[in-house]
Amino acid sequence: MLTVLVTNTKGGCGKTTIATNLAGAFACANFKTALADCDRQKSSLGWAKRRPGSAAEVTSVDWTRKITPLPQKTQRLIIDAPAALKRKQVEELVGMADMVVLPVLPSVFDENTTRKFLARLDKLKPVRKGKRAVAVIGNRMRLRTKAAERLDDFLEDVGQRAVTVLRDSQFYGTAAMLGLSLFDYNDRRALNFLQDWRPLLTFIDEATAKRK
Ligand SMILES: Nc1ncnc2c1ncn2[C@@H]1O[C@H](COP(=O)(O)OP(=O)(O)OP(=O)(O)O)[C@@H](O)[C@H]1O
Ligand SMILES: [Mg+2]
Repeated sequence: MLTVLVTNTKGGCGKTTIATNLAGAFACANFKTALADCDRQKSSLGWAKRRPGSAAEVTSVDWTRKITPLPQKTQRLIIDAPAALKRKQVEELVGMADMVVLPVLPSVFDENTTRKFLARLDKLKPVRKGKRAVAVIGNRMRLRTKAAERLDDFLEDVGQRAVTVLRDSQFYGTAAMLGLSLFDYNDRRALNFLQDWRPLLTFIDEATAKRK
């Protein structure tokens, strides 16, 4: 099983959007996929409830109170973490994961919180020893804007590079409302935005291959 933890202590940076879209990506690629929601807002659980029966199956798992067993033979697990995370919880979730996906918005407020969170992650043994790949994702980007340039500078400053940047699009909200991911669509608009996801999926594939 491959476990991807989506986390950042900054609220609203796109954790649930990325977690649900990754779940959709894996399910559409025919992996037996589970999506664990650790956030009491239950946004991922709500998404999974709205997901149409005709869409590729994603099994939702309620981890808001405690970590419960997964369906047998789960091949891909995506964990949607809450913004408010205690040190123990971070340790536990990072310990369970094969890799960490960390969304960041191009905003000075997000930068400060993200800087602190990255420092917290760096203190964890599996991350420090390079046993957990960390993929920083720039989210809600408007390309060629001052904010996009700033984000690059910020990431350079903290010794990171964005694995990919996801453009800002209403499409994400529309898909979320319907319990869908971009990967469930097969039209030109979706294909356009799906390009943003390729580097992340490649990163995940490469990290998976290294693990073997
Ligand atoms: N790339 C994007 N383009 C446009 N809107 C986006 C994008 N990513 C996220 N959003 C929107 O931003 C809002 C916050 O996103 P989301 O709920 O995924 O963040 P979160 O980190 O899970 O928040 P929380 O910390 O509350 O759990 C949502 O309305 C979502 O639809
Ligand atoms: Mg969320």
